[in-house]
Amino acid sequence: MHLLLLAALAVRAMAASLSTISNPIFSGFHPDPTCTFVPELNNTFFCTTSSFLMFPGLPIYASRDLVHWRHVSNALSRQEQLPALAFLARGATSGIYAPTLRYRDGTFYLMTTLAHQAIPGQNYTRWDNFIVTTEDPFDSMAWSDRVHFDFPGIDPSPDWDEESGTTWFTGSVDGTINYHVPIDLETGEAGSQPYISVWRGTGLPSPEAPHIYRKDGWLYLVLAEGGTRERHRAIMARARNYTGPWESHPNNPVLTAYQNTSSYFQAVGHADLFQDASGQWWAVALANRAGGRYAEDPYNSNFPMGRETVLTSVKWEEGQWPEFTNISGTIQGDFQLPPPDEDAFAELAASIRVGSDDVIDFEPGSSLPLHLFHWRLPVAKNYKVSPEERPGTLLLRSSRLNMTGFDGDSSRGWGQTLLARKQAHSRFRFSVDVEWEGLLTRADQEVGVTLLQDQSQHFDVGLVMLETDAANGSQRLSPHIRFRGISTTPFRLPERMKWVDDKFAFPATWSSKGDSRIRLQIEALNTTHYEFSAGLVDGHLEAEVEMEIFGHCRGNQLVPFYSGTVVGAYATSNGRYGEGSFSTYVSRWRYTGLEQITEQPAFESPITWD
Ligand SMILES: *[C@@H]1O[C@H](CO)[C@@H](O)[C@H](O)[C@H]1NC(C)=O
Ligand SMILES: *[C@@H]1O[C@H](CO)[C@@H](O)[C@H](O)[C@H]1NC(C)=O
Ligand SMILES: *[C@@H]1O[C@H](CO)[C@@H](O)[C@H](O)[C@H]1NC(C)=O
Ligand SMILES: *[C@@H]1O[C@H](CO)[C@@H](O)[C@H](O)[C@H]1NC(C)=O
Ligand SMILES: *[C@@H]1O[C@H](CO)[C@@H](O)[C@H](O)[C@H]1NC(C)=O
Ligand SMILES: *[C@@H]1O[C@H](CO)[C@@H](O)[C@H](O)[C@H]1NC(C)=O
Ligand SMILES: *[C@@H]1O[C@H](CO)[C@@H](O)[C@H](O)[C@H]1NC(C)=O
Ligand SMILES: *[C@@H]1O[C@H](CO)[C@@H](O)[C@H](O)[C@H]1NC(C)=O
Repeated sequence: MHLLLLAALAVRAMAASLSTISNPIFSGFHPDPTCTFVPELNNTFFCTTSSFLMFPGLPIYASRDLVHWRHVSNALSRQEQLPALAFLARGATSGIYAPTLRYRDGTFYLMTTLAHQAIPGQNYTRWDNFIVTTEDPFDSMAWSDRVHFDFPGIDPSPDWDEESGTTWFTGSVDGTINYHVPIDLETGEAGSQPYISVWRGTGLPSPEAPHIYRKDGWLYLVLAEGGTRERHRAIMARARNYTGPWESHPNNPVLTAYQNTSSYFQAVGHADLFQDASGQWWAVALANRAGGRYAEDPYNSNFPMGRETVLTSVKWEEGQWPEFTNISGTIQGDFQLPPPDEDAFAELAASIRVGSDDVIDFEPGSSLPLHLFHWRLPVAKNYKVSPEERPGTLLLRSSRLNMTGFDGDSSRGWGQTLLARKQAHSRFRFSVDVEWEGLLTRADQEVGVTLLQDQSQHFDVGLVMLETDAANGSQRLSPHIRFRGISTTPFRLPERMKWVDDKFAFPATWSSKGDSRIRLQIEALNTTHYEFSAGLVDGHLEAEVEMEIFGHCRGNQLVPFYSGTVVGAYATSNGRYGEGSFSTYVSRWRYTGLEQITEQPAFESPITWD
């Protein structure tokens, strides 16, 4: 046969079996992914990611085809599970760290760390390690209270040794060494034997996020390495037993984007591996959609959504080293995805399709959807869905603290009244309608929407009562629209810090109709710019509301440490009066994903600091 024809046939044969992965699979703030495959539960994949200060935290995602995912529960949903979350300082880097999710004999085990970064490094109470378990991953309430275990480090991951019957866990201590310790997962009793120090990685700083896989008589170890920023990568090694010797994977790093300036997905690393029903291996990892300029100046780059979860295929023949497919937005290969099952778990009334828009009307009898959350622990009485006096709204009672808090960092156990969700699209539009007339009656009372990275990087557009000078020289209290923001980090040069505080009297056209609502909106116009607007809702909820623009901010003014941007509605008296000095009602919560950009845009506005 003609050679060209042969080649053409070969290409056709390949094309027939090509599958496609679209990344990220969990977009926006979804770092440190971990997944497990459960044949016993009808061949279902379950994943979770770090949740830092979010409450509820540790979202559980389920899928049968690795393409369509649903958020089915939150492993941390009761305040009693982690009261200390309310008090964490160093807020941009404290909270729930890298979990590991595993299933065994009918039980799901989730090991994780509550990191108190404000406690000095030498004091091991800084790392509060614990396990939660469940037999029903589809019900938030079924997740257990936490079982604490003593471990002076982070990133714990369990490993069951069938032969000896010992359960071990591996974790990272002082950012340098990975330890193995036997543990009783029911009681949390750990460390009765001296730690065994395992492979330290290939020499870059911060070997961490260890996971062990037992395969073909080997222990395979995957680690993250290189720190959480531009040098981040995934590496592997194997040994016959924990004491070694450990052999480094000949193709390390197995995943990285370091120095690949054409990759939009940067800082790829922190992997976890799992196998499907057909025997195909898969890996999840984290990545930033930061683009090729990331390595030059990570602390001033443009990637507000932070670390997201990506999926790739892995070839792993018996006795051989695994081979990973490199990460990109669209991965095509001769791997076989599980059969499509778009509607899996749709019958679970509380579950939320990952990536879907929000159309939330706070209907009577409803509760808050699984994917909405608070910043640290909420003061429960400050939120009520569809209160009697205003059915079909969400009652927010104000906190004294605004989103900056006292100091851009902590909240000292006080609440910050906020209900939020993640930015999950490169371009999106988020809005809520707020009621204020007769409700906000004192100076500095404010209800608004925020685009929040952390307490020292957020931009808000709000309706605020302000005292202004009246014509006769006295003070007059009147409603204003305020666009206010703060963008500071310890890594930023002073000239690159930003504060904005623009106040606007209500436009003359916003004449009061007695019970008028104001729509407050945030839109990501493109990958670099956000727009903040407001408009009068003229009695008709679905009528076209004419929006006026009150401000802009840039993606690089919201640089993530460990989390990513969220949007939400807040109510605050800006440090004045007591808690709950006013109530307001939020309605018509809408979040619309407009575009998912997964390749470096041909033109992206240059990084400037206006
Ligand atoms: C198992 O999954 C299949 C699709 O993959 C679905 O049709 C079936 O209803 C599921 N069975 C149960 C018991 O959930
Ligand atoms: C360690 O921190 C805890 C607070 O978590 C504190 O109670 C304890 O005194 C500290 N220990 C030392 C030795 O500083
Ligand atoms: C671990 O494996 C190595 C290499 O196979 C072997 O030399 C050593 O004896 C083993 N150690 C233990 C404790 O089994
Ligand atoms: C760099 O990234 C691009 C885009 O994802 C990809 O096509 C290319 O293969 C990568 N190159 C290397 C050397 O990894
Ligand atoms: C994958 O990335 C590595 C860098 O880690 C690079 O050497 C390799 O060429 C890439 N492979 C492909 C197919 O792009
Ligand atoms: C000043 O004018 C405001 C209305 O703008 C009025 O409410 C207030 O009583 C006046 N104060 C004095 C001292 O005249
Ligand atoms: C937040 O509230 C404090 C008072 O607690 C106030 O000083 C600060 O200006 C406010 N800042 C922002 C950006 O909300
Ligand atoms: C993004 O939007 C801003 C504000 O409208 C605009 O100035 C900028 O040129 C846009 N960037 C791109 C790449 O279109």
